[in-house]
Amino acid sequence: MVILVNYIKDVRKFITEWRSKALSIGFVPTMGFLHSGHLQLMKESAKTCDKVVVSIFVNPTQFGPNEDYDKYPRDLKRDLKLCGEVGVDLVFAPPVEEMYPEKTFIKFHVETLADELCGKHRPGHFAGVLQVVAKLFNIVQPDYAFFGKKDAQQLIIIKRMVEELNFPIQIVPVDTVREEDGLAMSSRNTYLSEEERKIAPKFYEALKDAVALLSKIGIEEVKKKTIASLENAGFKPQYVEIVDLKTLQPVGKLEEGKEYMIAGAVFLGTTRLIDNLWFKFKKGRAVLI
Ligand code: PAF
Repeated sequence: MVILVNYIKDVRKFITEWRSKALSIGFVPTMGFLHSGHLQLMKESAKTCDKVVVSIFVNPTQFGPNEDYDKYPRDLKRDLKLCGEVGVDLVFAPPVEEMYPEKTFIKFHVETLADELCGKHRPGHFAGVLQVVAKLFNIVQPDYAFFGKKDAQQLIIIKRMVEELNFPIQIVPVDTVREEDGLAMSSRNTYLSEEERKIAPKFYEALKDAVALLSKIGIEEVKKKTIASLENAGFKPQYVEIVDLKTLQPVGKLEEGKEYMIAGAVFLGTTRLIDNLWFKFKKGRAVLI
């Protein structure tokens, strides 16, 4: 049976009890409207930890003024049922006033790591993500926290926050879960019309083709070709970039033995999709990792 709590004091009550029994705690922060990608994070958490805590909170501070905060899909009843099926012990679903009872004065500022990719197009987004994740980490005090590689920039920035600010938490990256046709799972996929849903998997195809091309032609040419093929398929690409996996800075040339990521964001109608692939440059070839 999943326990549902809405208030911080109740989370703390359970955490204190579990800690007194020396139980380990795994945490999966989410914005709800769960899909198989989230469930995979929860299953990994259940494998590693004695207790699994999930938060369901659509965090207003990470949405820009023209983004989809109001229309972001929500269905707590369905989410609770799914959590129950994968061994979650406690769901924390606070109202906005519980997380932000008044104006906040303390903000995060992310150097460089948020300058490119999604950060470039969503000003303030990662500051908002760190604000809520830091709060959630202090509320839940987990030993492990699980994040999907689909939101790679988020994962890398959160890992950096945990290291630099000495949170006693291990961040566990989990592979992107895809639909059978390759489309990366996302709560926003529900916005797609039937027609758009048929086009959507071509995004993943284009990124795979780009990685194959990187063994043959230069980065700038690969980016141009990928953007053209996405446009032909019916997407409006926001960016396609190849970055160093550690610094998240765009690179002009691949170096032997180093790890990189090709990442993109595209619009399909009004829906924004993101995806990425990680690879290593080995013996002159880009090899997926
Ligand atoms: O990835 C998400 O769903 C959100 O950015 C997170 C980590 C739950 C913070 O609101």
